[in-house]
Amino acid sequence: MNIEQLRADTAAVERLIHFNNAGAALMPAPVIQAVTGHLELETRLGGYEAAAERTVELENVYASIGRLINAQPDEIAVIENATRAWDMAFYSLPLGPGDVVLTSTTEYAGNYIPYLQLQQRRGIEIRIIPNDEQGQVSLTALQDMLGDKRVALVSLPAIATNGGPVQPIEQIGALARAAGVLFLLDACQAVGQMPIDVQKIGCHLLAATSRKYLRGPRGMGFLYVEKGLCQNLEPAFLDLHAASLLTPQSFEIRADARRFENWECNVAAKLGLGAAADYTLAQGMEPMWQRIQQLAGYLRGRLGEVPGITPQDLGAVKSGIVTFTRQGSSAAQVQQWLAGQAKRINVSTSTVRSTLLDMQQRGLQEVSRASVHAYNTESEIDTLIEALLRMPQG
Ligand SMILES: Cc1ncc(COP(=O)(O)O)c(C=O)c1O
Repeated sequence: MNIEQLRADTAAVERLIHFNNAGAALMPAPVIQAVTGHLELETRLGGYEAAAERTVELENVYASIGRLINAQPDEIAVIENATRAWDMAFYSLPLGPGDVVLTSTTEYAGNYIPYLQLQQRRGIEIRIIPNDEQGQVSLTALQDMLGDKRVALVSLPAIATNGGPVQPIEQIGALARAAGVLFLLDACQAVGQMPIDVQKIGCHLLAATSRKYLRGPRGMGFLYVEKGLCQNLEPAFLDLHAASLLTPQSFEIRADARRFENWECNVAAKLGLGAAADYTLAQGMEPMWQRIQQLAGYLRGRLGEVPGITPQDLGAVKSGIVTFTRQGSSAAQVQQWLAGQAKRINVSTSTVRSTLLDMQQRGLQEVSRASVHAYNTESEIDTLIEALLRMPQG
């Protein structure tokens, strides 16, 4: 990878060290250009008129996302964030009393709450797939659990918000397919970080966001819906974009995945998402993933040298989201100390609120999260380690 070019495209690296890519990564220049360029066009022409000038580019957004995850453009819906994309998929599933949803200990609270809501409203059952000895979903346990004919859905994040394992998503997908069970993949932290190929994974539905490893603007995301499945899923919400009013008594839902969208959207951010997908594709997903893993491995190794720091990630394959705790300090204190360095260092805090099951199981209330991207460097990691070594004992 051309790291110098990646950094030249990312102006803020001159001023700060950004290890909050799992929160929101720094946007590269072409993404910023796509967003601000469109805002300028809106300023000059008017919002609707500007969108009309960009119809080809707006269509291309679907093709770019499709290329990124090996899907067809009509299998993509552009939705304002990963949560809403996921919700649109989940609430369209015909889940009823006794239907079982299998998920992982690493599930995001924003997804787990809807499971609980449908447990209360419709009587579905939630079952947690146990982990194997390395801390990721146990494939043998999953296979056993899929033997129960009441299982209607496997739904989990490829990479959790608080780091930990990269789940064996291709094997999970193969097991779900073999059992004839739907697989909804939360790829929010995975898209842009690791190669994601929906054909290889075999997921039926996939939700992702723009602002994290994909490096797109905030307030954007997308949903993938497998073509054969799409027309069998009725979105929980419809509008005049998702459906057409034919007569005062009848409407028709559109056939493609855009039935999960709604009409009004942030057009500049949508173009930014397309630019982010193009930028990522141009770098190459495989080299990007190798670089992220190499930097994360270096960071985990160096954290091990800092007295009082305990690395907290489990799993046979670990991602670019590196988590740790510091004896005697809260994660907020670590975050504040690092933000106060001469060259500001951004890390974040992950709490039990976002991944309750996993954190409770491991007896953790919170972790510090330093999430690396390909544009970070080993020298930035060294600066982080020096700052941690200098941090006063709490
Ligand atoms: C694993 C996972 N899923 C879903 C989400 C929600 O994404 P969004 O904020 O774009 O709705 C997050 C955000 O941190 C996440 O880490």
